[in-house]
Amino acid sequence: MLTLVWMLTAYIAGSVSFAIVLAKIFGMADPRTYGSNNPGATNMLRSGKKGLALLTLLGDGFKGFMPVYAASHWGVLDVFGLSLVALAAFVGHLYPVFFKFVGGKGVATFLGAVLGLSSTIGWLTLLVWLAVAIMTRYSSLSSLVCSLFALFGLVYLWDVGLWTMVFLVMVGLMFIRHRANIQKLLAGQESQLFAKKAIST
Ligand code: G3P
Repeated sequence: MLTLVWMLTAYIAGSVSFAIVLAKIFGMADPRTYGSNNPGATNMLRSGKKGLALLTLLGDGFKGFMPVYAASHWGVLDVFGLSLVALAAFVGHLYPVFFKFVGGKGVATFLGAVLGLSSTIGWLTLLVWLAVAIMTRYSSLSSLVCSLFALFGLVYLWDVGLWTMVFLVMVGLMFIRHRANIQKLLAGQESQLFAKKAIST
């Protein structure tokens, strides 16, 4: 029962899309209308507003981290239950109740949730994201690689269990959400981080 309450809380928190909210507050164009059309930190960066991109990253990460962290301290003690809370926050970002269920790709929220589950695997996952991003400058590729890294890292930590199913769903959704990015990566047409031309918003 407590797990369900935390899942609902996590879903509602996950539904707050920081890219859309910050764009509204700062009078910018809706990130769903330019670049990759994704309401996420990477697309905010394409507008040239680095500070807002960072705030989006932190906000979307926090809404993944906080419910998992709070649930682990107040009532949900097993990794399966905590993984369900992580999934709920992630699904909130992908299908937000506040934005007609049209959301983003969930990378920052996923990273935040992993940090809430295990700070060691969370920070390592973040480092993997950074390493791949620095080497390739592809945000999407970094996201896909780090989602797999997190899955294997947690398997190393906890062994395979029911929680693994939950994580497979999350990683599966992450890949499905990135299908356009994957096609562009394969075609050599994916846009790189810090490409010179900022999109006017
Ligand atoms: O933050 C999501 C990232 O992996 C890809 O974003 O805007 O390039 O589709 P985008």
